[in-house]
Amino acid sequence: MLMKAEIKKVIKFGALSMILGGLSTSTCGSSESAAGLESGDTAAAVVTRPEYYQFRNASRGGTGKFYMGREISRVMGYQGASWLERPDREREQRTDLLIENLPLEADSVVADIGAGTGYFSFGIAKRIPKGRVLAVDIQPQMLAIIEDRKASGAPSNVETILGNERDTGLPEGVADLILLVDAYHEFSHPREMGEAMVRALKPGGRMVLIEYRGEDPSIPIKPLHKMTEKQVIAEMRALGLEWERTEDFLPQQHFLVFRHPPAQPINGPARD
Ligand SMILES: C[S@@+](CC[C@H](N)C(=O)[O-])C[C@H]1O[C@@H](n2cnc3c(N)ncnc32)[C@H](O)[C@@H]1O
Repeated sequence: MLMKAEIKKVIKFGALSMILGGLSTSTCGSSESAAGLESGDTAAAVVTRPEYYQFRNASRGGTGKFYMGREISRVMGYQGASWLERPDREREQRTDLLIENLPLEADSVVADIGAGTGYFSFGIAKRIPKGRVLAVDIQPQMLAIIEDRKASGAPSNVETILGNERDTGLPEGVADLILLVDAYHEFSHPREMGEAMVRALKPGGRMVLIEYRGEDPSIPIKPLHKMTEKQVIAEMRALGLEWERTEDFLPQQHFLVFRHPPAQPINGPARD
């Protein structure tokens, strides 16, 4: 999906960033040293709504912070940007099929939350020439990569938005579709982020959530970077989203579709 020169630039950026250091991060793959750094910090330090979370001993790569029985993983750092742009990702994850199957119109507004390097943002932007992609991430270094790619000729209908751990930074009712690829499991405040995402959806809008299949131990990804279908559905239902369907056409990941309930007509008594 990326031109060779762009990949080189991303890798170079990653190497430079490793020297400079950064946020508490982890890697997604089975190897600890594939990309990024591990730090002792956990996201638990910034909890604002503790009633949703429990704290226990952290497992390897975990934060020790639990939401609805699931341990939240660490955030994948920008140091791992080149892993997101690895040349065999399309074949491995069938990212082409993923994009093809998204419910899109030419003028859709799509929010790619946890956009990383914009791997999906740019792929989607080409499919919605009259629409726009709002690429949200909490790491400014990731957004800088996206801006850099735009400056190098990548589609211009991608806008970067710096969110925070509890909020997308998106306006209310803006998105026809919210896409989350390999990102939700590492949100340090999934409840607050979930509520913010629901607010950002138009009534009747959809959310597509992609996560490695937690039911399949043969998928070579650390367990905390996978989710079961049951767990995802429970967490999205807790936000008031309706589960529409789960599709399993991707080799390693679930493709779950949720819907924001359409606005309800007000049936109160008529007023004079
Ligand atoms: C594993 S990367 C996936 C990137 C991209 N979706 C992809 O598949 O190429 C996860 C991204 O989610 C971002 N992230 C983590 N917590 C977030 C939050 N609360 N809000 C927005 N982005 C977040 C991280 O900074 C990271 O860039």
